[in-house]
Amino acid sequence: MKSGYTVVKAIRHGTKILGSADEPQLEAEVLLAHYLNVSRSWIAGHPEEYLSEPILASYNNSLRRRTSGEPLPYLLGYWEFFGISFAVDKRALIPRPETEIIVEHSISVAGNNPNIRIVDVGTGCGTIAIALALNLPNALLFATDISQDALSLARTNSIRHAVNNRIKFIQTDLLTSTGKFDIICANLPYLTTQETCTLVVGRHEPRLALDGGPSGLNIIRQMIATAGNHLKDGGSLLMEFGNSSNKILEMANFYFGSANCKLIPDYAGRPRMLKVTT
Ligand SMILES: C[S@@+](CC[C@H](N)C(=O)[O-])C[C@H]1O[C@@H](n2cnc3c(N)ncnc32)[C@H](O)[C@@H]1O
Repeated sequence: MKSGYTVVKAIRHGTKILGSADEPQLEAEVLLAHYLNVSRSWIAGHPEEYLSEPILASYNNSLRRRTSGEPLPYLLGYWEFFGISFAVDKRALIPRPETEIIVEHSISVAGNNPNIRIVDVGTGCGTIAIALALNLPNALLFATDISQDALSLARTNSIRHAVNNRIKFIQTDLLTSTGKFDIICANLPYLTTQETCTLVVGRHEPRLALDGGPSGLNIIRQMIATAGNHLKDGGSLLMEFGNSSNKILEMANFYFGSANCKLIPDYAGRPRMLKVTT
């Protein structure tokens, strides 16, 4: 049954409701396009089309959830990372664009090397491992996470992209003795416990994906301290971090001794990734 709402009226209404978002009209259009199963350009081209009652109800419900702070990707159920669509939900962190530098550097380090062994530690919804499986057809991939929930979502994403037979998913605390690796990638929790409790991100995304302890460095320190035992000679550790770049470099130099440790900036020029080459 038709509602009394046209597309243009629904977008105006949504834009008003989402007034405090950074881009309220864009979000309203994305949500309506999602429920109508059309593109945003279709929305622009069909302002006078009437919405059905069920579509309007779903759209209004999503506006309510969005105004209570729920992230847009969780409402949509998918999000893009490295040009690849990932199913996302509360079981895992929403992939962030800054993590793409780990994928880019891994691809460049891997080159055409056949049978290169790569592990993605703390894989979440499978982002890094799946992006690498799709871009490095000869690589042997492993993905670990301490969260069984995150791993089940990562497996679903690997099936969706037909790389489930190329990635071995392992539930573990950081790394187990699955042999040595050429590349270890990791985007592990790096917020402080206080930030996790106070920032809006901590209200909706899993605490296990965010909380790095009182200093934010507990898990990262453990990773840097143990990664060397799991790297082949000439292997690389590529790890994202938040703040504390000086401390991270200090830790890396301490635990890796003579290895080449450097910080790589993100696109905004901010140190964002530790790269260690043994
Ligand atoms: C910041 S999220 C990153 C997820 C994904 N790599 C991404 O970039 O979108 C950190 C992930 O590490 C996992 N994790 C936290 N502590 C861990 C540990 N000790 N060992 C393995 N995984 C851990 C969390 O469950 C979460 O999925």
